[in-house]
Amino acid sequence: MDEQAICSLIDMALEARESSYSPYSNYKVGAALIAGSGKIYKGCNIENASYGATNCAERTAVFKSVSEGERFINAIAIVGGPKDAEIPLPGFAFPCGICRQVLREFSDPDKLIVIVARSKDDYKVYTLADLLPDSFGPDFTDQ
Ligand code: THU
Repeated sequence: MDEQAICSLIDMALEARESSYSPYSNYKVGAALIAGSGKIYKGCNIENASYGATNCAERTAVFKSVSEGERFINAIAIVGGPKDAEIPLPGFAFPCGICRQVLREFSDPDKLIVIVARSKDDYKVYTLADLLPDSFGPDFTDQ
């Protein structure tokens, strides 16, 4: 991925973060992914008064894409921070374990690019295999 593509995906994750529904943690997360078709899907965290029913931003984006017929993810950018934080955000928001496994279901772990960002020019780039080594999931090595 070139720098410009990374920047624009981060931009969309920041935009998604604006929709975060997080009145319990006051921690707003946004994600934007590039699916197999090339389309971009955005997601935010959606909390619940019954805390365990909360959905993370990454899974919101993945589920939106899969429900629109996508079955593969090429890249995802994630941004997160306290509700009133300014950009650059104070830290990097890494995907939780459940989100890593959900991403694994729809990607080749050696190919999926995971970008965590504090701003458009402060980011880190990983593969899913970096974040979830020796994973269990479908075989996408032929695609
Ligand atoms: N959260 C995400 O959206 N993604 C993650 O990978 C980690 C955590 C959300 C869930 C909850 O709404 C808030 O961040 C605090 O945990």
